[in-house]
Amino acid sequence: MTAYEHELWHGDAAAVCDALASDVRFDLVYLDPPYSVGATMAMREKSGEARGRRRPTSGRDAYTDTGDVDALVAMLSRVLERVRSRMTDDAALYLHMDWRAVHEAKIALDRLFGKRAYAGEVVWQPGNGSRGARGFSVTHQTILIYAAREKKRLRFAVNHPLLREPFAETSLAMHFTNLDDSGRRYRERTIAGKAYRYYADEGRRLGSVWSDIPGMVANTPLRAEATGYPTQKPEKLLERIVRASSVEGDTVCDPMCGSGTTLTVAARLGRRFIGIDASDVAIETSRARLAGLGIEARLAAL
Ligand SMILES: C[S@@+](CC[C@H](N)C(=O)[O-])C[C@H]1O[C@@H](n2cnc3c(N)ncnc32)[C@H](O)[C@@H]1O
Repeated sequence: MTAYEHELWHGDAAAVCDALASDVRFDLVYLDPPYSVGATMAMREKSGEARGRRRPTSGRDAYTDTGDVDALVAMLSRVLERVRSRMTDDAALYLHMDWRAVHEAKIALDRLFGKRAYAGEVVWQPGNGSRGARGFSVTHQTILIYAAREKKRLRFAVNHPLLREPFAETSLAMHFTNLDDSGRRYRERTIAGKAYRYYADEGRRLGSVWSDIPGMVANTPLRAEATGYPTQKPEKLLERIVRASSVEGDTVCDPMCGSGTTLTVAARLGRRFIGIDASDVAIETSRARLAGLGIEARLAAL
């Protein structure tokens, strides 16, 4: 039996951060806000309904995303300041954005967290293909990673298979020419006088471009994880983030949890979660999703 309780809050993320019990701290934060797409985003709840930007065939409205980039970044800054005050010293923040506001958000984060708190970024390619007749359409989204405090080392796991990728074919052919007694291919390198052995079947540490997680899995009604919530992210994407930057028993916060993807993954991996969303449809969707998986959370509202 777990000693902690999951929490699902309906309300503005900044206000909820202020309302949480005084000892609540976040070991990991994943934040996937509106992107300033200029539309109201709607659900698909039954067959024939359209999910995403509101259309005549859409289901219920989930949330509005009609503010311009300046308004979005102002709202995010207000929320991030409150979120940061709850983060442990070695906690990581993952801020998921697209091309519309990611550059302004980076500047805001540098100001709030400090430039040296920037810990890299992930380019996620959902695989939706290019749109539009001119130029290169932007087919990736960006996840900025920040440490809660400048100069603090982030905890980072690298050995789980989800955090590794195959070596390049050329590298395998050129370098992995040895076989051990059990028939495994390996290479050996000597660095600063010390010999290291690398096995081909273990792969290499994952880089920052992720193209192996199709966005579609979260959005097609053919997949069990799809809830019909607009802009739902794949569980595999969140599993990679949660495994990389938290351990069992940690508290993972998603201050704009939408359909509850982060919460589902965190609970499954033995982390405690705090989910927040300002949309009643998001809370209803998260609640139903968690209940369907037998995950209990305390509901609260501001
Ligand atoms: C892109 S969606 C999140 C989708 C989510 N990652 C998922 O996998 O389903 C953005 C969410 O931010 C929420 N939101 C926007 N402003 C908010 C605020 N100030 N406080 C809390 N939630 C907010 C919206 O209601 C919406 O559910």
